[in-house]
Amino acid sequence: MNKILLQAENISHSFDYPLFSNINLKIEESDSIAILGRSGSGKSTLLHIFSSFIEPNIGKVELLNRDLYSLSKEEIEDIRRNRLGIIFQAHYLFKGMKAIENLEIASLLSNEEIDNSLLKRLEIEELMEQKIGELSGGQQQRVSIARVLSKKPTLIFADEPTGNLDKETAKLVMSVLLEYIEEHKSAMILVTHDEEMAKLCNRSYKLEHNLSLNPFP
Ligand SMILES: Nc1ncnc2c1ncn2[C@@H]1O[C@H](COP(=O)(O)OP(=O)(O)OP(=O)(O)O)[C@@H](O)[C@H]1O
Ligand SMILES: [Mg+2]
Repeated sequence: MNKILLQAENISHSFDYPLFSNINLKIEESDSIAILGRSGSGKSTLLHIFSSFIEPNIGKVELLNRDLYSLSKEEIEDIRRNRLGIIFQAHYLFKGMKAIENLEIASLLSNEEIDNSLLKRLEIEELMEQKIGELSGGQQQRVSIARVLSKKPTLIFADEPTGNLDKETAKLVMSVLLEYIEEHKSAMILVTHDEEMAKLCNRSYKLEHNLSLNPFP
């Protein structure tokens, strides 16, 4: 039987207006899940709730068999550092440093070796000596994905990881991510506007006007 990595129960959240209510989702190892929805529907907020950054108004998130929002700051910090792969819209690379230095920091923090075959797959191995600030948006995005996968995360949360990429490079990045989760019995939740990318995942959902998360199509 596959292990459950994340279980969200009855999640509701509002900021200025209610974003979603009563959301339930279960994620097992080797799962890849896409979340679609209009701009402003709350996709990023939902991803932040699942990944330890925002406590929901109502509901429970069990992450790796722990009741996420009952944990201490230190315990959450430890899970984020060692178990989660977070690929968000603003990528957290050190702009003044070389690409390779960014990967070295991640590898030091997580005690995992840099995987050179991954750099080759992402077509960024030639860029390693360049400063992040000198790379294009899409190149930075791929360095940031390499940095996250170097940590060997158990669960990947990706907010439009292919947003800055042309179709061919986007497909390449998706296949690198999907191969990673297959090989490491990891799982991924992906937010995207691109239905073609969503189709590559094994399940898709859409955040709808009625505040629920429905299977899509
Ligand atoms: N920290 C916050 N404080 C107050 N309101 C917020 C906060 N974060 C998000 N919101 C509001 O919640 C709504 C949903 O935002 P969210 O970023 O989750 O949407 P989204 O579906 O990811 O949109 P997009 O596709 O444009 O990225 C927006 O109206 C936004 O202004
Ligand atoms: Mg968003």
